[in-house]
Amino acid sequence: MCGIIGYTGSREAAPILLDGLKRLEYRGYDSAGMALVGAGMLSEIKEVGKVARLEAAFSAAAGIDGSAVCGIAHTRWATHGVPSAVNAHPHCDERYEFAIVHNGIVENHHELRAHLLKKGYHFRSETDSEVIVHLIAEAYEGDLLAATAAAVRQLSGTYGIAVVSSRHPGLIVAARKGSPLVIGLGEGENLIASDIAALLAHTRKVIYLNDGDIAAIRPDSIDLRDVSNVPVEREVAKIDWDAAAAEKGNYPHFMLKEIFEQPETVENAIRGRISLEMGNAILNGLELSPRDLAQISRIVIAGCGSSMHAGMVGEYYFEDIAGISTSVEQAAEFRYRNPIIEPNTLVIPISQSGETADTIAAVREAVGKGALVTALCNVVGSTIAREAGRGVYLHAGPEISVASTKAFSSQVAVLLLMALLLGRNRRLSRSEGCELAREIEQTPELIRSVLAQAEKIREIAKRYAGFDDFFYIGRGCLYPTALEGALKLKEISYVHAEGYHAAELKHGPIALLDERHPVLALANDIPGRDKILGNIQECRARRAPVAAVATVGDREVETLTDDVIFVPACSRFIAPLPTAVALQLFAYYIAVERGCEIDQPRNLAKSVTVE
Ligand code: F6R
Repeated sequence: MCGIIGYTGSREAAPILLDGLKRLEYRGYDSAGMALVGAGMLSEIKEVGKVARLEAAFSAAAGIDGSAVCGIAHTRWATHGVPSAVNAHPHCDERYEFAIVHNGIVENHHELRAHLLKKGYHFRSETDSEVIVHLIAEAYEGDLLAATAAAVRQLSGTYGIAVVSSRHPGLIVAARKGSPLVIGLGEGENLIASDIAALLAHTRKVIYLNDGDIAAIRPDSIDLRDVSNVPVEREVAKIDWDAAAAEKGNYPHFMLKEIFEQPETVENAIRGRISLEMGNAILNGLELSPRDLAQISRIVIAGCGSSMHAGMVGEYYFEDIAGISTSVEQAAEFRYRNPIIEPNTLVIPISQSGETADTIAAVREAVGKGALVTALCNVVGSTIAREAGRGVYLHAGPEISVASTKAFSSQVAVLLLMALLLGRNRRLSRSEGCELAREIEQTPELIRSVLAQAEKIREIAKRYAGFDDFFYIGRGCLYPTALEGALKLKEISYVHAEGYHAAELKHGPIALLDERHPVLALANDIPGRDKILGNIQECRARRAPVAAVATVGDREVETLTDDVIFVPACSRFIAPLPTAVALQLFAYYIAVERGCEIDQPRNLAKSVTVE
């Protein structure tokens, strides 16, 4: 979704802002723009398309002060108004004294626009955001922070905004409600961004703004106020990601890099969290005593997309390993359908970014209903991590590719650790716990052995790259894995792919099967394999090409299917991990064959911060 970066200091702002925008490109956008404040003058430049176009336009532009040391910039993902230079941010007031960039949605923009039009303000764009800059101009009486506060008080909806003014060189005012903003603290310079990926090249010291916060950011100072304009102190967080982690290195795409990082990222997710001796997991972030754990009577998991699929794998874990009744909710449903939450219900919101609007709302609903809430997030200090109050971080490092890969595997690994902990707290014996703990420890190695077959998977993918409709089928923990595999394929290759429980095929979808509808069957040697073999036969009888994921050495699957990707032998609990990695590679190579733009698929955004 939209991205914000702002800089104030002593260096030229434009290169820093353009570099920041490039680091935000992964979020998905359709236009970009920048406003600079130098020598008492405000100038802006905006372009449709990639940041590279904005950069070229900036190099060629006259009348824009390239030596300015303060500015704000934005990548826009169109919601209100088509992608165009006029609709791109920043938006300026009529006299070019103020410029704003905005993430989020101003829900009452129609009323505000009508009010401003009546007062004689003129609008240039079709956006909801433009009202903000006119409201600031209207409220301005010499104090930019006060004017911004007055403007945002009139907004309903969500916003993360940054404001500059020709009347206040060196000052950026930022305000947040519902759309993340983080201040990057430098030496004699400070930055503001919607996402820490844009800050990593400059600093690891950050302050996350809370909803309602407003900040005056100058090169040497940060003045922070809360919603009631009372000065507040916010904790300075240290980010342990480095800038290289957010770069592609020698990989052609972030997605491939992140797929290949998984042995390490899963290792990071489990490191220090397993006791082989006790056959247990150690998850201090949960902040739940054995007594608290014993009282949990139900688990509700909430998430969206891949995070929800990880949650669906977790459902099998919690019920099978710990014997706790578990359900998984699409986070938007959780928010609107008045879920039943009892005092001993544990709600687990899962979110890589920690900023997904529907999952944030689910957290608020759960906290408000008095549930125990413990979040699984990758981004330290993100809204969900903070609002849940307790949780377990994934430690997967920045995930830049829009299609989630390493976050998914880390989520599954952490859910397995949680199930082990809850299982040991209840019905799992020490020796059963030890066996599971040993298996979990070996997961990175299993993933490595799938990665070693990347070339073979690529060859198989090439044979399937011409098809336009796929079915993915699985059973048990491999059912949500099938959903995840299908999601990967559709989002990056624009191929229609549906995941089904293998048993569900006969209840309708099988009507579609013919030689144009390949089926990807997850036929690993775990309980349910024999039934999947039956399903494979049914598909073949309808002339559907069948590719399978199977356990290494399974000749029966090999003879029954057209192609097989072999994964190492492992238990049903571990199987989703190597299998998901194989499916990620399969989707990736199909997208490569089809010439798709892999890291930033059309229409998609990395973090969905609006409903
Ligand atoms: C798919 C994908 C999305 C996200 C979903 C939730 O590859 O990335 O489906 O999983 O938007 O995002 P988070 O986990 O950040 O809440």
